[in-house]
Amino acid sequence: MDKVKLIDQVIKAIYAVFALVIVSFLFLVLIWTNPELVYSPRVSPADWQPRSIQADLGKGPRESLVRLGHEIIIETSKHIGPLAPEIESRLAGNNLSCQSCHLDAGRKSGSASFVGVANRFPQFRGRENKMGSLNERVNGCMERSMDGKPLPEGGLEMQAIVAYMEWLSEDVPVEREAEYKGFAKVELPTEAADPIKGRALSIARAVIWKTVKVNDHLKRISIYIHRYGGMTPITMALECIV
Ligand code: HEC
Repeated sequence: MDKVKLIDQVIKAIYAVFALVIVSFLFLVLIWTNPELVYSPRVSPADWQPRSIQADLGKGPRESLVRLGHEIIIETSKHIGPLAPEIESRLAGNNLSCQSCHLDAGRKSGSASFVGVANRFPQFRGRENKMGSLNERVNGCMERSMDGKPLPEGGLEMQAIVAYMEWLSEDVPVEREAEYKGFAKVELPTEAADPIKGRALSIARAVIWKTVKVNDHLKRISIYIHRYGGMTPITMALECIV
């Protein structure tokens, strides 16, 4: 009788060990495939870098919207400007890109970066004297900087631009947010601007120079663009300095 009980207990113990092994194995597989469940890689605020499409964007429905937003910001004219294939999409009036001003697809500090921008809206806008949304702010740049018409609020392009900005604004350490807001401070000169010097500078401006060797002498060739203000066409001059 005792022998039967013993065998029964041994079988139960084997089952228990077996179940434990299976559960541990499944747990390990789960952790292996989703390491963030137990370990979240915390970067110190000092080492933190803005997200990049190439390194940090996964795959999925939201990701493709974020990717489209990034493309619109770096190649604005091809998507919503004069170079867009569909005439109805050509809402921007010039061939600038958003990143002509918001450098490195809005990732660079000191150039009204989009890092953290989604956390700053809605906000009060003195220019319109009302609370403004992020959509309205994007359209502010569409109408002024891009010399165009506003993007439809619920349209794919607006959704994509905002999705990209929201993605860039996630997990930004609070200590670093201010660094990405607005433009770099410029030291303004203390003396008054001199319009005569300014005119001289705008009339003749060297745009290209190159050093060449002629008969063992170094010469600098400078190409100047002369502008005589207003509508006068641009003329060119070539100058050789020994
Ligand atoms: C010619 C330069 C220029 C271009 C091109 C431009 N912007 Fe701007 N943008 C600005 C300036 C200037 C500001 C104001 C920054 C400030 O308030 O400190 C601004 C501000 C913004 C802001 C608010 C930023 C903040 O931190 O509050 C958003 C959003 C924005 N622009 C989106 C865009 C988008 C999207 C495009 C392209 C469709 C674009 N901009 C194109 C110059 C430009």
